[in-house]
Amino acid sequence: MHTMVITGGTDGMGAALARHYLAAGERVTVIGRSRSKFDALVTAVSCVDPSAAARAEFVPADLSLVADSRRVVDHLLAHHERIDSLVLAASFIRQRRQTTTEGHEASWALFFLSKYLFVTGLAPLLRVAERPVIVNTAVPGARVDAVNFEDLEMVHEFTFRRSNAQQRRANELLGVLAADGIPNLAYITWGPARLVRSSFAGEVGGVMRITAAVLGRLLGQRPEAAVGPIIRIIDDPSPGRAAYRGATERALNVGRQDGTDAVRLAAAVEEGL
Ligand SMILES: NC(=O)c1ccc[n+]([C@@H]2O[C@H](COP(=O)([O-])OP(=O)(O)OC[C@H]3O[C@@H](n4cnc5c(N)ncnc54)[C@H](OP(=O)(O)O)[C@@H]3O)[C@@H](O)[C@H]2O)c1
Repeated sequence: MHTMVITGGTDGMGAALARHYLAAGERVTVIGRSRSKFDALVTAVSCVDPSAAARAEFVPADLSLVADSRRVVDHLLAHHERIDSLVLAASFIRQRRQTTTEGHEASWALFFLSKYLFVTGLAPLLRVAERPVIVNTAVPGARVDAVNFEDLEMVHEFTFRRSNAQQRRANELLGVLAADGIPNLAYITWGPARLVRSSFAGEVGGVMRITAAVLGRLLGQRPEAAVGPIIRIIDDPSPGRAAYRGATERALNVGRQDGTDAVRLAAAVEEGL
C-alpha cells in the first residue's frame, strides 16, 4: 500500500486525487482547512469501499502560516515511516497583497514557503520510498528571472502577475533543491491544459471571479478529468525533474544559474522564516 500526502486535498483537483487513491486502496493524508469537506469525500468513497475511512487521515491546517506548515511536517514525520507521493495543491488566490498574522505576504507563504517546508522537511520520508514523487501544481514556464531575490515578499511593487510568476519560478527552483537532496525523486511542476472547474478558492475582484466562473462553466474541465495525467505520473514516475501542462510534457525552463539561484533562494527563505 502506498502512502500519499495531498495539500489542498479537500477540494478541486486535490480532492479528486484523494478520492481516486482512496478508492484504489492507498493510504491518503489530506491537508486542508475544512473537516466537513474531508468527511464528505471519505463518506463518498466509503459507499464503494468501506475500508477507505481507515486509510484516510485529515490534518487540519492553515498552510499560509509557517507555524501550521511546520506542525503538519512534524506530525507526518512522527506518524509515518514513508511517503511515496506528495501532491502540493493548496490554493487560495489573492489578487492584492495581504500579510498573514505572522507578517509574511500571504500568497508567497501559501504558494511557496509552505511548499518549501513540506519538500525540505519531508525529505527523510520521501528518501525511503522506492519511487518517490512530488507533484507540485505550480504552472511551469515562468521566466527564469521571475524571482526578485531583493524583495521576495514583494513589499514594493506587488502585482498579482509578478507574485504569480515569482512563486511559479521559485517552485521550479525548489525542484532543483529537492532533486539534489532526494535521489531517485521525480519532481513534477504541473499545470492543467485548460481551466478546471474547481472551487477557485480566493479573494479576487469581481471581474476575475465572474470570468473564472463563466469560462469555467463554458470551457472548464471537471477536476476528475483534469487529474488523469497526474495519476499517470504518480503511478509510473520517472526520476528527475519534469514539467507538464495537462498530459503534455514541456521543456524545463532552464536558466544558466539555476543551481546558484536555488541555493540563494533557500538561504533567503531560511533567513526569513
Ligand atoms: N483550477 C484551475 O483551473 C487551475 C489552473 C492553474 C493552476 N491550478 C492549480 O492547481 C492546484 C489546485 O487548484 P484547484 O483549483 O483544484 O483548487 P481549489 O478547488 O481552489 O481548492 C483549493 C484547496 O486548497 C485548500 N486551501 C486553500 N487555502 C488553504 C490554506 N490556507 N491552508 C490549507 N489549505 C488551503 C482548500 O482547502 P479548504 O477548502 O479545506 O479550505 C482546498 O482544498 C492549485 O495549486 C492551483 O493553483 C488550478
